[in-house]
Amino acid sequence: QARWADPKLSWGLVPTMGALHQGHISLAKRSVSENDKSCATIFVNPTQFAPTDDLDQYPRPLEKDLEMFEAAGIDMVFTPTPDVMYPAGFGTRVIVDGVTARLEGEHRPGHFDGVTQVVSKLFNIVQPYRAYFGQKDAQQTVVLKKMVRDLNFNLDLIICPTVREPDGLAMSSRNIYLSAEQRQNATVLYRSLAKAKDMIEQDDIRDASLIRQTIREMVNNTPETELIYASVADGANLRELDQISGNILISLAVRVGETRLIDNFILNNI
Ligand code: PAF
Repeated sequence: QARWADPKLSWGLVPTMGALHQGHISLAKRSVSENDKSCATIFVNPTQFAPTDDLDQYPRPLEKDLEMFEAAGIDMVFTPTPDVMYPAGFGTRVIVDGVTARLEGEHRPGHFDGVTQVVSKLFNIVQPYRAYFGQKDAQQTVVLKKMVRDLNFNLDLIICPTVREPDGLAMSSRNIYLSAEQRQNATVLYRSLAKAKDMIEQDDIRDASLIRQTIREMVNNTPETELIYASVADGANLRELDQISGNILISLAVRVGETRLIDNFILNNI
């Protein structure tokens, strides 16, 4: 009802799971600057978590989040409960093929089915002109672009740059789980991506396995970290590359202590 009070107004949508940081706020500010009105959502979506994931521990500082969105100029925040989103009898899934099978999808089976399910519901509920997502979840942006194209959602997806701490660590709601020492060790994600970028752009290395190996070694040489995957893939279909060319996605997932972190760089026109 609030969204259609004045149908002439353009609405932006910023879907989040809360526990906001400056990455979320950059999406909110971009939406506020590009639309007449902006709606943010805060919903820790159970269907994108595996039973072994951190659903119950996921931080939910709702009052602080609402203040941060208000300060960023957001007009409306939708904070449904799981019962509102998935009432008794709910039984529809949204499955994107292909690009969901690799990287995060390979290691977190079902994760993207939950993401596309909830995001398609949010798109239908809010019916925005534009929806804002962070580049940090690179595969999520590829999956959602495909869903929007395949299912003819009438909106533009706007992908915003990853916001980083001064030492390069990508902002993430999960960073608060890290001890001081783990927080230091977690910079290996950014450092290994920066090293990979230099190898490709400055040293002209085109052998993707050499890049993956370098990332693997840097993570393995860092205390309290475990590499989940290191990938050098085609930026569009996310298939692993042998030879590097075109638009590529370099990404990795690392467990730092108990905390699972991801990060990526995109290199274009290699
Ligand atoms: O990126 C996230 O925070 C979530 O995957 C999203 C898009 C809000 C869906 O729950």
